[in-house]
Amino acid sequence: MTRKKIVAGNWKMNNGLQETEILINELLAETNHSGCEVMVAPSFVSLKTAIDSLNDNDIEVVSQNVHQSNDGAYTGEVSAKMLSSIGIKTTIIGHSERREYFSETHEILKNKVDISLQNSIKIIFCFGEELKDRKTNNHFNIISNQISESLFHLSSSDWNNIILAYEPIWAIGTGETASSDQVQEMHSFIRNFIAQKYSNELAQKISILYGGSVKPNNAKEIFSMTDVDGGLIGGASLKSKDFFSIVNSF
Ligand code: 13P
Repeated sequence: MTRKKIVAGNWKMNNGLQETEILINELLAETNHSGCEVMVAPSFVSLKTAIDSLNDNDIEVVSQNVHQSNDGAYTGEVSAKMLSSIGIKTTIIGHSERREYFSETHEILKNKVDISLQNSIKIIFCFGEELKDRKTNNHFNIISNQISESLFHLSSSDWNNIILAYEPIWAIGTGETASSDQVQEMHSFIRNFIAQKYSNELAQKISILYGGSVKPNNAKEIFSMTDVDGGLIGGASLKSKDFFSIVNSF
């Protein structure tokens, strides 16, 4: 089974329009990325510019977030319908920073998933455990709960539009990467968990990315694991050379 390989850069709340344009120009200069699909997620204010600049290139511009309603009195929010109107085809949902700092619950994330699919927007669905969960051997429970509560109402065909991203919170922005064995163990657990609910055939088709301090010097080893289909990259995606070094690590 050949699954889609993906490397996505999550720029988080970094880069104004000018810095975004500079980084995009650097990305456009990097031509060699045949081994996988490449995505970047700039902030909302730069999405349209990024789409226009990368239009003819095969780097996809994705959103970092989406609101769970199509429109209405939600000051400061951006809907799936709006994202769709500027050509966005994929959004990140469920990043641990959204769960923690913006109190996004399983139910809210489930609604975000549904409204995105209704608007033909694919999803990179993130989840991950805290260090205390791993230390108490509760990490498999935490992950299965995060996945089942927000995704297990989906039909089998909905899963054609889902990419998963395992991001252990203790490895995000800390420089401490999960070991390749820890990543493989969790990805294999996730695939089995999905196979039990749906089917092995479906589970084998789902791309599962790893995120958490992926850098040029560790990407190759992590990407070589059987159930790892790419990465969701934070800090290193802000430097074009590092990002492309990771992209070319397959
Ligand atoms: P870092 O690569 O900076 O650890 O961030 C990972 C992440 O949160 C990507 O969504």
